[in-house]
Formats: sequence, C-alpha cells, structure tokens
Amino acid sequence: MALRIVVFLAVLIGVTWGLNVTVRLESDSVDMSAHPNSVPEIAEETEVFGQQKELIAEEVEEDVMATGELNPNHYPAQRAATVVQHYLNTYYGSPYKVFGVKGVHSGNAEDVADSGRKYQLNISLQDFISKSTENCSAEVLFLRGEKQQQPSPPQVQASCYELSAINTKVQEEAFYQKYKTNQSLMSAHLPDSYGHIEPGMEPFWHLGTVASSFIMLNQSTEDTLYNMAQVANVTQLETENNQLKFDYHVLLHEMVSQAIIHWKLLFSWSPSEGVKVLQQEQLPHCHDCEKPPNSN
Ligand SMILES: *[C@@H]1O[C@H](CO)[C@@H](O)[C@H](O)[C@H]1NC(C)=O
Ligand SMILES: *[C@@H]1O[C@H](CO)[C@@H](O)[C@H](O)[C@H]1NC(C)=O
Ligand SMILES: *[C@@H]1O[C@H](CO)[C@@H](O)[C@H](O)[C@H]1NC(C)=O
Ligand SMILES: *[C@@H]1O[C@H](CO)[C@@H](O)[C@H](O)[C@H]1NC(C)=O
Ligand SMILES: *[C@@H]1O[C@H](CO)[C@@H](O)[C@H](O)[C@H]1NC(C)=O
Ligand SMILES: *[C@@H]1O[C@H](CO)[C@@H](O)[C@H](O)[C@H]1NC(C)=O
Repeated sequence: MALRIVVFLAVLIGVTWGLNVTVRLESDSVDMSAHPNSVPEIAEETEVFGQQKELIAEEVEEDVMATGELNPNHYPAQRAATVVQHYLNTYYGSPYKVFGVKGVHSGNAEDVADSGRKYQLNISLQDFISKSTENCSAEVLFLRGEKQQQPSPPQVQASCYELSAINTKVQEEAFYQKYKTNQSLMSAHLPDSYGHIEPGMEPFWHLGTVASSFIMLNQSTEDTLYNMAQVANVTQLETENNQLKFDYHVLLHEMVSQAIIHWKLLFSWSPSEGVKVLQQEQLPHCHDCEKPPNSN
C-alpha cells in the first residue's frame, strides 16, 4: 500500500431533479501524507441541485485507468455517463427538456491506439421534466491531446431514440412568445438560498442547465465529473434575429476536485434553433463570489 492510495468515497449524486438534494462526500482510509493533492476534503457537504441521488462507492488507484469491464457504480463509468448526459442536452435540451443519468448498467473501457480511450456504456437516461427514462447505449471517446494543448472535447455517440423524440414544441413556443418581446427579466440565484425556484423561473433554470452542458461537455475529461450547481444570475438581453438572448452566470460543480467553477455564458435560444452559445468565459476564482447555498 506504500505508493497506492485507496480512497473510498461515498458520493451522493442526485438522480431526482428535486431541488433540495445534498451531496455528501466522505472519505476514509486516506493516506494524506502520500498524495495530499489527490485527496478530496473529508466529509464535505455541498448542495447540488437538479441531480440524481445515488450512492457511489469509489476506489481510486493512482495512475491506473480503468480498463476492460467497468464497475457501473464507480467513478470511471459514472464520469463517462455524465458526458453522455451533457451531450444529449446539447443536442435535444430545451427549457422543457433536460437530461440526466438515471443509472449505469454496464460498461467497458479500452485504450485506442494513439488517440485516447473509449468507453462503451449501457446507461439509462432520464428527461427530468417528463420523467421519461430510456436505456441507451453510448460510446465516449476521450481524446488524448498534445501535452501543451487544451484537451479536445470528448466525442460521443448515443442512441436514445425515445428521449430525443419527446415533443415539447407547444410549451417551447409558448415560452418563446411570452419572452420574445418582453425583456424585463432579471434575476439572481436559481435556486435561491432556500433551494427554491419560482415555478415561472423553472424554464430559465433548465435553459441554464442545457447551456452549461455545452461548457461541461467541452471541459470534460476522463478525470472530471461536472454538474450544474446554480444559476447565479440570469439576464435576458434584447431579442435578435428572432432568437431570445441571455446572459447567464453559472456555477458548475466539479465533483472530483470539489471545485465550484464560475462561468459567464452568452447564448441564444429559440424553438427552431435551440441553444447556441455565443460567448463563454471562465471567471476567476474569487472569495467574494457567492457560494452556492449551504456549501460551507
Ligand atoms: C450492453 O447490453 C447488451 C445487451 O445486454 C450487451 O450485449 C452488451 O455487451 C452491453 N454493452 C456494454 C458495453 O456493456
Ligand atoms: C434497462 O436495462 C436494465 C439493465 O439491463 C434493466 O434492468 C431494465 O429493466 C431496463 N429498463 C428498461 C426500461 O428497458
Ligand atoms: C413580461 O414578463 C413578466 C415576467 O414573466 C410577466 O409577468 C409579464 O406578464 C410579461 N408581460 C407581457 C406583456 O408579456
Ligand atoms: C427546499 O427547502 C426549502 C427550505 O428548506 C423549502 O421551503 C422548499 O419547499 C424545499 N423545496 C423542495 C422542492 O423540497
Ligand atoms: C472549448 O473550450 C476551449 C477552451 O476554453 C475554447 O477555446 C473552445 O472554443 C471551446 N469549444 C467549444 C465547442 O465550446
Ligand atoms: C447580473 O448580471 C448583470 C449583467 O451581467 C449585471 O448587470 C448584474 O449586476 C448581475 N447581478 C448580480 C446580482 O450579480
């Protein structure tokens, strides 16, 4: 056990799109002296919204990437599954359609010569609004970039025919018409510090989650597990070219490092064009920035 650390993490990630979900991170049998940086904080509790609750027992072994058949409950399979979730959101997400991982059934991982590592997964994904669930097979390829370069976004293929076919056109059109000529909207914090979202604001939370999936998909690697924590601020800008336009400040939670990362996102949305990210900027970490509720 000298150069090998074993970290058992009991992580609750949300599966229900409920609002008051607690993520618990506990670790024991941690050899802090060997790899202090690789060890998450002990017994930290963070509120994470809009996610499923599930227990994952995790075993991290230094420098050993999971290969072959994967334990569906361990991080490597869960991380790859979460990438599929973000991918689906970028393709089919809307103010009335937001996807999440409901469970991982099976999977395997293998090295692909020179290019990276490929995960094949059988997972169930859910649209958290309609609660429709589907078993999907998916493939995620994490590309191995050049050392100095920013890694390329993972490449994803997924077959989720039922989820992609969920029809929310009527609600989307109504939302679009309501806000097309009405830009008075300005709000901070979805959910608020009580974990509450006004019913009328839910579509803006969903939209922020979908837009954040573009960032999270792009930023994901084999070593990350991103989830949306909070919309810190949403401002509707003037509609341009028949596209609603929004300025969002979002807080993303990277569960492996337990980092909360702030992004500023400018994007447009319409029923026909979906979400288009126009500008994205990672905001510097600052202590004055507001924390998500109950994260201390
Ligand atoms: C997915 O499930 C099918 C049918 O049960 C099985 O044949 C296949 O090997 C599974 N794939 C993975 C990657 O586990
Ligand atoms: C999804 O797959 C799992 C495991 O293979 C199975 O237990 C479950 O019944 C399936 N669900 C549906 C809706 O097909
Ligand atoms: C503008 O939006 C606000 C907030 O949603 C809403 O209460 C109001 O009815 C809207 N006004 C019009 C003219 O649609
Ligand atoms: C979340 O918690 C707040 C206060 O603790 C409560 O008022 C609210 O109803 C809860 N929301 C849900 C969806 O449980
Ligand atoms: C992915 O992120 C990089 C670095 O932040 C950025 O330059 C690039 O435009 C992003 N790509 C997409 C598709 O968002
Ligand atoms: C929300 O964002 C707008 C536009 O970026 C900014 O003017 C406003 O100060 C922000 N509000 C809060 C509470 O951060």
